[in-house]
Amino acid sequence: MTFKVALIVLSDRAASGERADQCVPIMRERLGAAYTVVRESIISDDPASLQAHLIDLADSHAADLVLTSGGTGLSPRDRTPQATAAVLDYEVPGIAEAIRAASLAHTATAMLSRALAGVRDRTLVINLPGSPKAVAETLDIVLPVLPHALELLADRSPDQ
Ligand code: MTE
Repeated sequence: MTFKVALIVLSDRAASGERADQCVPIMRERLGAAYTVVRESIISDDPASLQAHLIDLADSHAADLVLTSGGTGLSPRDRTPQATAAVLDYEVPGIAEAIRAASLAHTATAMLSRALAGVRDRTLVINLPGSPKAVAETLDIVLPVLPHALELLADRSPDQ
C-alpha cells in the first residue's frame, strides 16, 4: 500500500530564492518508497497561502498526508500552527506531543516549536520544524506510526 503525500516548506527566504530549500530532499529520503509525493511547494510564511494549499489538498483528496516544515517557532512570521489549526476538523495532539517529547532528547529548544497535527476530511496534516536537522529528527519519530494512522483515516484498517 502506498500513500499520497504533499510536502510544504514555509520559508520566506526559500520562497524568494534567497536560500535553497534543504528540507524537501530530506523528507523525500526519509519517507521512502511507501509514499508517493504528489505535490512539493516552497511557499512564504503567509498563512493564507498555507491554508489554501491545505484546503485544496484535503478537500480534493489529493493527499493522504501533508507534511509542513517551518514557521512553528516564536518569531512574528511563524504562523504555521495558527494557519493549520484554522482549517483542521480536529487535532491529533498525541502526534505533536510525541514529537516534542522525543525531540527534547536532541535539543532543549524543541520546546519552542508550537507544531501541531490534525485531520481535515481524510487528510492528516503534521507540522514539522524548519531546519533540515529538525525535519530528519521529527520525521523519524512519527514515521513508524503513520501507516496505521493513515489506514484508519482511509478506513482501510483490518480493525474497522
Ligand atoms: N526539534 C528537533 N527534533 N530538532 C531541532 O533541531 N529545533 C527547534 C524546535 N524543534 C529542533 C526541534 C528550534 S531551534 C525551534 S526555534 C523550533 O523547533 C521552531 O522551529 P521553526 O520555527 O523552524 O518551525
